[in-house]
Amino acid sequence: MSARRRRWPARRWNCPEWTLTEHSTDRLEILPVEGLPEFRPGDDLTGAIAGAAPWLRSGDVVVVTSKVVSKIEGMLIRVPTDPQARDEARRKLVEQESVRVLARFGRTMITQNRLGIVQAASGVDASNVDQGEIALLPTDPDGSALALRNGLRERLGVEVAVVVTDTMGRAWRVGQTDAAIGSSGLKVLHSYEGEVDGQGNELQVTEIAVADEVASAADLVKGKLKATPVAVVRGLSLVDDGSTARKLVRPVEEDMFSLGVTEAIARGRKEAVLVRRSVREFADEPVDPETMRRSIGAALTAPAPHHTKPVRFVWLRDRGLRTKLLEAMRESWRADLRADGFTDEQIAKRVGRGDILFDAPEVVLPFLVAEGAHTYPDARRNDCERTMFTVAGGAAVQGLLVALAAEELGSCWIGSTIFAADVVREVLGLGAQWQPLGAVAVGRPLAAPGLRSPGSPGDGLVEL
Ligand SMILES: Cc1cc2nc3c(=O)[nH]c(=O)nc-3n(C[C@H](O)[C@H](O)[C@H](O)COP(=O)(O)O)c2cc1C
Repeated sequence: MSARRRRWPARRWNCPEWTLTEHSTDRLEILPVEGLPEFRPGDDLTGAIAGAAPWLRSGDVVVVTSKVVSKIEGMLIRVPTDPQARDEARRKLVEQESVRVLARFGRTMITQNRLGIVQAASGVDASNVDQGEIALLPTDPDGSALALRNGLRERLGVEVAVVVTDTMGRAWRVGQTDAAIGSSGLKVLHSYEGEVDGQGNELQVTEIAVADEVASAADLVKGKLKATPVAVVRGLSLVDDGSTARKLVRPVEEDMFSLGVTEAIARGRKEAVLVRRSVREFADEPVDPETMRRSIGAALTAPAPHHTKPVRFVWLRDRGLRTKLLEAMRESWRADLRADGFTDEQIAKRVGRGDILFDAPEVVLPFLVAEGAHTYPDARRNDCERTMFTVAGGAAVQGLLVALAAEELGSCWIGSTIFAADVVREVLGLGAQWQPLGAVAVGRPLAAPGLRSPGSPGDGLVEL
């Protein structure tokens, strides 16, 4: 048994030493502060609480709804009372208060505000305020909590902690709870890292957000409709380590979900073209046929002249047919090289180099079938028309490569079929209209291809 296990036998749970490490307490009271007025900008919140709760004791936690802090700190914005105009004003305020929009879901925006807090609408709230007003969150809720704590010490001579709360939803949980957005005088996080329970198990939950638990507990007496914006949690063993609610905002580098849905989609779109690069070495594993079909479907959305659909992708699933085609193309290449005057030895050397199309897990052959192309009385315009259709074919092939890359599949566009068009048509039994546009080798990349940086366009961009 380890020394640590021996340190925390179950029977010592109630010893004074334990209360220093356990965040919970045996018994808790949650008391509403009743009789508080409706607050307006400039009002004395400290005085009002001191007057309504002269029974406050040192060690209490005063839990205050951020709305009243917003009100006394003048964070009320005048807006039109007409519901549509009010809604529009609210939307603008949400944008103004947000540093990031993480997700949009219907009318709901999940945003991050200047305090780093991620919640719906940056805390911009039209409830419990006049119809012609909207409340923003306090600019420094930790500062507000400290000011109230100091004020209550001055007025009542008590050493309390203060938690300022707001109501928030939780990802993956239905419903909202109150959470601490400001705090002073309370250890906001309680760590159990490395601790062992009474049964000798190392604790799995390592950090308790005590300030959030206090905020939620207080909401059970504050409510949302009965104008009780302040409650007192009595009975916690307060430890003041100087921490504030700011500490409860998860740093980006520790956030497994640092990108919101909207941001992740936006980044994915921006990177779609940049994730493609020629991949020539593939893992020896099959490619999911549905992914192939989905990528080809996406590629076929490429633009084409005259509203035509001139691109065909032939997916060579029959290995025997693929080998037959590649060998016939090789023969045709040999004939070309012979005609160029290369020796048999030189030809054998060139043709003998490995061919990615033999080995790739999948091969797709793009073709152009320029049905719907216009014909002209002169050769020049017919050439132009052909070029126009050929570039449309190129657009579709690039679309395929990008779509495959977005599915984490590697690909390499190989030009060889372009040089053996008759052979390709003959082996595959295709009509004269079918113009090969190369071949695409597809497979799971052996090494993860990194994301390319677009760099500056250089000579590739001419701005006139
Ligand atoms: C029409 C076309 C034909 C190509 N033919 C070949 C080829 O026969 N063999 C090959 O290894 N790569 C071929 N490539 C790929 C290029 O070599 C590759 O795109 C280039 O090196 C740039 O690298 P990247 O695709 O990673 O950006 C071809 C590319 C295009 C667009």
